[in-house]
Amino acid sequence: EAESKKKLLLADHKILVTAGPTYEAIDPVRFIGNHSSGKMGFAIADELASMGADVTLITGPTAQISKQQNIKRVNVTSAAQMLEACLAVYPHVKASIMSAAVADYTPTDVATKKIKKQDGGLTIELKKTTDILKTLGEAKREGQILVGFALETNDEEMNAITKLQKKNLDFIVLNSLNDVGAGFAGDTNKITIIDRELNKTTFGLKSKDAVAGDICNKVAQLING
Ligand code: CTP
Ligand code: CA
Repeated sequence: EAESKKKLLLADHKILVTAGPTYEAIDPVRFIGNHSSGKMGFAIADELASMGADVTLITGPTAQISKQQNIKRVNVTSAAQMLEACLAVYPHVKASIMSAAVADYTPTDVATKKIKKQDGGLTIELKKTTDILKTLGEAKREGQILVGFALETNDEEMNAITKLQKKNLDFIVLNSLNDVGAGFAGDTNKITIIDRELNKTTFGLKSKDAVAGDICNKVAQLING
């Protein structure tokens, strides 16, 4: 009975979730990536689905598998592909939770052939990627809810609040790399949620599934009032 009640919390709301890293190609066999496991985003997508939401999960390369059935998975590789996939879905969703670790820079030119090693070092020129979250924040319609993450090592709350405001978010999930047990690879996380009114809620160290529960409850509160 508790489960069927839970299913009603976000019944039929379309929600977008991003997860995982992005890979930015250098040449046909090499890329620039990061250590994101995708666990947090997949846990959020599972939690939303168990609350009855109609979830689209746009994910970079990851070994994760969804536990819930009603999740549409869209696989992408690069930041540019993730942007395109997000823009296609965004107009149709009630809420978006952007937990992907999107590359900030991508090679200016992708070599069409494998780069051969030569004497001396190698310099790869990079250009900035488009900030997906900021782009969605600029396109946000009345009633849409947009959630971002911030990964910080210093001046954490100040940096998170700057991101919240610059990207027009409803709340931001601050992930501190200074906290033991928090971060990319592990199964636990420790977060602080900061909303538009600058209300701050700090949670204890928990499993990523439990952290996903806290984040999704906040989303449900904003949707249901
Ligand atoms: N993000 C995004 N597109 C990018 C870079 C980041 O959508 N090209 C999103 C992430 O998914 C996350 C949020 O922006 O929800 C914050 O990411 P983070 O790396 O902490 O912040 P940046 O704005 O990229 O700033 P910096 O890395 O310099 O701290
Ligand atoms: Ca970044």
